[in-house]
Amino acid sequence: MMAGDWKSAANAAAIAVEERLAVLLSDQDSALSMLFEGMRYSALAGGKRIRPFLVLAFSALLGGKKEAALSFAAAVEMVHTYSLIHDDLPCMDNDDYRRGRLTNHKVYGEAEAVLAGDALLTMAFETIAHAETDASCRVRAVQCLAAAAGARGMVGGQMMDIRAEKEKPSLEVLCHLQELKTGALICAAVELGCLAAGVTNEEVLNACRTYASGIGRAFQIVDDVLDVYGDQELLGKSIGQDARDGKVTFLTYMTKEEALTEAAALTATAKKALSGFEGAEMLCSFADALLSREK
Ligand code: IPE
Ligand code: IPE
Ligand code: MG
Ligand code: MG
Ligand code: MG
Repeated sequence: MMAGDWKSAANAAAIAVEERLAVLLSDQDSALSMLFEGMRYSALAGGKRIRPFLVLAFSALLGGKKEAALSFAAAVEMVHTYSLIHDDLPCMDNDDYRRGRLTNHKVYGEAEAVLAGDALLTMAFETIAHAETDASCRVRAVQCLAAAAGARGMVGGQMMDIRAEKEKPSLEVLCHLQELKTGALICAAVELGCLAAGVTNEEVLNACRTYASGIGRAFQIVDDVLDVYGDQELLGKSIGQDARDGKVTFLTYMTKEEALTEAAALTATAKKALSGFEGAEMLCSFADALLSREK
């Protein structure tokens, strides 16, 4: 595969996961139509789908079948979408725009948005439980996604992030916070791809985890930079929100150039981790593209 092919692969991954999400989120019970509408509103709003892409790309790299990978990809995107719905709530970041449209609570109300998020989170695990793969693989996938989403992962990071508005963490603590709130789900996506391919070799898993950790950390640094210097039309979310909320971000500690240099170094480490894998050029170009992304 050519290095530049990541765009068509990412496009195909986005289409495939959206088709799967549309099926999973179709409602049969008219009494629940408002709940499902709210879930679809955010889940089918056209995010970048980088986590599903990672699941599918790692599964393909390591020789997995697409079917289980697609279920895992839909599951991680559901957890990510729930995290965004809750992140935007007035009691969290209080944001009005997401994925180019009004935030979920702005359209459906706060209680409804909480419930749409809860339902997406729960459905993610139901989806993994039904995936077309053997039971031990499904159990490992549940363990992986639950650990990454929960107290020692994304939720823990979100808690640190909220506390950080008052406690002003050091750069070291900020890195830990970002590894949890953003890095954990990106790592889970890569690991779910490995699991879908049936990989249990620790050496292979560790190399993939090193890649995931590098791009995950770089991704949040770029997110911090885009919140100050980005274009909100392209981003599909408001900018300047971190400064408004007194958040400590990478730009509290360094200039934009220094932050991007740090993100580039993390990306280089990520790419190096895949140097022994045949066919990993696409994932290396993808890592580079995340670094210079504008949305
Ligand atoms: C936004 O994630 C939240 C962070 C972890 C920084 P994405 O930038 O991947 O959001 P979507 O999925 O493309 O909307
Ligand atoms: C959110 O981080 C991370 C999660 C949703 C877990 P941010 O609060 O920085 O994300 P944006 O900038 O609102 O997308
Ligand atoms: Mg936040
Ligand atoms: Mg936010
Ligand atoms: Mg942000």
